[in-house]
Parts: sequence; structure tokens; C-alpha cells
Amino acid sequence: MSSAPPSRAVTVRDIRDRKGKDPIVVVTAYDVLFGRLVDQAGVDIVLVGDSAGNVVAGFKSTLPVTLDQMIYHGAAVCRGVSRALVTVDMPFLTYQIDTATALVNAGRLLVETGAQAVKLEGGNERIAATVARLVEIGIPVMGHLGFTPQSVNAIGVRVQGREAEEEERILAEAKRLDQAGAFAIVLELMPAKLAERITASVSAPTIGIGAGPGCDGQVLVLPDMLGMNEEFSPRFLKRYANLADTVRDAVRAYGDDVRGHRYPSAEHSF
Ligand code: KIV
Repeated sequence: MSSAPPSRAVTVRDIRDRKGKDPIVVVTAYDVLFGRLVDQAGVDIVLVGDSAGNVVAGFKSTLPVTLDQMIYHGAAVCRGVSRALVTVDMPFLTYQIDTATALVNAGRLLVETGAQAVKLEGGNERIAATVARLVEIGIPVMGHLGFTPQSVNAIGVRVQGREAEEEERILAEAKRLDQAGAFAIVLELMPAKLAERITASVSAPTIGIGAGPGCDGQVLVLPDMLGMNEEFSPRFLKRYANLADTVRDAVRAYGDDVRGHRYPSAEHSF
């Protein structure tokens, strides 16, 4: 039986406790208004993704996104969210170089945004050691495996883990992140069977995107699922609205009114 979302603020413990129970609902947001709307819609986690680089800034990848930009987006989202758990992405090169740098940068993200957790990509031994240290000092960490967009130049945009060796590597990374104390792990663009295998092998809830129905939760990038990003239509994406048409129609109607001297009318004037 599915239960109503809790009315108090969602904690990382709530998310961990949901493993294998009610699916965890995650969407991205980048500003206060959408942060407020998705929170009111009852999502469990608002992810301030570095996909901001693609869908807000128009970059071809997430690589140019800076820590200051993530702080700006994270703080804006936190001003709109009162219930969901806010998790902010650590951008490229803010955690891969060494653990000390990662601690300082993750600390800035929490302190300067008000978010409750950070997300970082990868699961090799170095990254897992950094995750363990962050968790040790009280910074909750969400992992991210499979297609990891910050490595796009090395791995390309493709489903990860189709070959046996790659499948075993990703499974081992998931176990490592789980061991390190990640409170959840995003699984992006991988065969549904592999995501199911990982989900069954780790104690942290898995959050899928293009990873099939066998995960403990799902995440989508908000402008993609709202139909605002028309050029992006991967197979895994389901559009729940067509805001591109809504926005164009509204702005056209406004333009027609201004040109036709129908706006502003007496009721909009002082
Ligand atoms: O940056 C992002 O939006 C993400 C999601 C795709 C999981 O990492």
C-alpha cells in the first residue's frame, strides 16, 4: 500500500528507510519558483543538478558549470522548498582532485545554499574514499553511476554496462559507494537488468534515470519532463506536459494584445 508523503521535512534517514518500499520521487530544479512548485507537488528529493549547465545555461555538457553557479542555483531552490530534501550536484573538478578539496567544496555547498546533501559522480576507490570522509564529517552524499555526464569525453553518451566486464565494474562501484555510506545512488542509462542487480545488492536506495523500473526511485530533469526542451527526446524520457507550446502560445497572445492595443486595458491601469 502506498503512503502519503510525510508533511514534515524529508530527511536522508527517511530516504534510506524507503528502500524496497514506496518508490522515491526525484526531480531537478534550478530556481525558487520551480523549487516551490515541485515541493508543493510532493516530490521527495529536489536535485539541483549540474544539468543546469545544459538546460539553463545552454552548454553542450555539464563540464563548464562552476561551484559558484551551483551555489547560486542551490540557494535559489532552497528558498522555495520547505519539505523535500534538497541535494546539490558537485560540479566537475570540485571533488575529483583530492578529498580535502572535496570537503571544503561540499561544505560550501551545504552552508551557502541551505541544502541537506550533495551528489557526486563515479565509484572508483578514490571517489569512494572521499564519499566516506564526507559522510564521516556529516555531509550526506548521493552517488551517481552508469552514464556519468562529467565523464562524457571519456565514455561518450551511451548506455553503460552492456558488456559483462563493464557490468561487473559498475556493480563493484555501487557496492563501494554503499559501503562508503552514500544515502542513495543514481543509476543513469544502463540496462534495466543491471539496475535491478545493483538495487538488490546495495542497502542504499537506487534512483534510476534511463535504468528501467527496478530501481527504488526515479529522477527526471524538470525541463525535459515538462516538455520545455524539445531538442532532447531520449527513449527513457516521458513528457508530462508540453510547456513549450504553452509558453509560445501565451507569449504570442501577449504580443497580439500589445500590438492590438488590448493590453494594458483600464483594469490593468492606474
Ligand atoms: O544533473 C542532473 O540533473 C543529474 C540527473 C540527470 C540525475 O545528475
